[in-house]
Amino acid sequence: MYVHVPFCSVRCGYCDFNTYTADELGEGATRASYADTAIGEIVRSGPAGGGRPVETVFFGGGTPTQLPAGDLVRMLGAVDDAFGLAADVEVTTEANPDSVTPQSLATLRAGGFNRISFGVQSAVPHVLATLERTHDPANVPQAVRWAREAGFEQVSVDLIYGTPGESMDDWRTSLEQAVALGPDHVSAYALIVEQGTAFARKVRRGEVVMPDDDETADKYLLADDLLTAAGLGWYELSNWARDDAAQCRHNVLYWHSDDWFGIGPGAHSHVAGERWWNVKHPAAYAQRLAQDGSPRHDGETIDTSTAQVERIMLETRLRSGLALSALGQDARSRVGGLVERGLVTVGDDRLTLTLTGRLLADAVVRELVD
Ligand SMILES: C[S@@+](CC[C@H](N)C(=O)[O-])C[C@H]1O[C@@H](n2cnc3c(N)ncnc32)[C@H](O)[C@@H]1O
Ligand code: SF4
Repeated sequence: MYVHVPFCSVRCGYCDFNTYTADELGEGATRASYADTAIGEIVRSGPAGGGRPVETVFFGGGTPTQLPAGDLVRMLGAVDDAFGLAADVEVTTEANPDSVTPQSLATLRAGGFNRISFGVQSAVPHVLATLERTHDPANVPQAVRWAREAGFEQVSVDLIYGTPGESMDDWRTSLEQAVALGPDHVSAYALIVEQGTAFARKVRRGEVVMPDDDETADKYLLADDLLTAAGLGWYELSNWARDDAAQCRHNVLYWHSDDWFGIGPGAHSHVAGERWWNVKHPAAYAQRLAQDGSPRHDGETIDTSTAQVERIMLETRLRSGLALSALGQDARSRVGGLVERGLVTVGDDRLTLTLTGRLLADAVVRELVD
């Protein structure tokens, strides 16, 4: 289950997630009322779960920790009541390092959360400033320490590379400081210029210049080197984990096109070959639920060929690779060429990206889709 929490203290210029600052939302969609509104959706969705216990819950955003910890715990309790949680459920929340305290972390841990993912992005002040991040990098080790003291078994950090003005040394510093936190898991994403964001306007006006792809590729290679040396192995293109148990089971479920319910404004669900998504604005979402209506906006049935393309796109990204049986006849005939060009290896009837292939994964996927 994915639970979306659409609030942030400020909007980072590069981000196009469905999230709002306090000024942007009026009556009917306040932070104070959000947990009860979302619980309304959880309760009405419960019967569709068919009694299958929830194996992973991921609170994302936005910044879930903008809500009082007690509200997050109540929402998790509602998931348990309405769907049932598996005995070994993984429960993650995303968090900004500035939005947690020892008390809030203790409440979350006691309430059943066992994994936390901090949005660190960079350790370098001028890079954080370009990203319009507000947290003080000096607070990050403290937030991670508090999470450990509260008993969080799994701590992850998110990093971004390829920010305009970020040198290779800056990126090395961010990686070294991330590793020094002793995380179980690291996600490192190349900065994407999302159309419609303030950051995209700056790029268009020439106020900031994006690095070229070769420089970004070198940063990926540096990340893989340093993370691997620190005992964190890649298991998905942008994700490294201390061991198999430290992989994010929730994201692995997405990459295997498994079933999930999405709760909250704009959240997507994918259950038994159907995909649907909720109305995007928190006020419209709250209004639907207040009138005892469904917040669903639209949906689609996923046909076999779409499911196959999605499977190829997602599973190729994984270290565990893609079963050759997932490929069509023409695509299978192209696998040899990919092997010759050093982009993939084949073993046990599965295809896996090489390090070079990981840099060119989108191109590989294009050749695998008939
Ligand atoms: C919902 S945010 C994480 C939680 C929290 N709000 C935060 O930012 O710390 C999920 C992650 O997406 C990544 N992200 C957001 N916008 C991105 C972009 N334009 N390019 C690359 N990564 C992005 C960031 O690394 C961020 O940590
Ligand atoms: S990156 Fe995180 S903190 Fe920044 S606007 Fe997006 S969701 Fe909010």
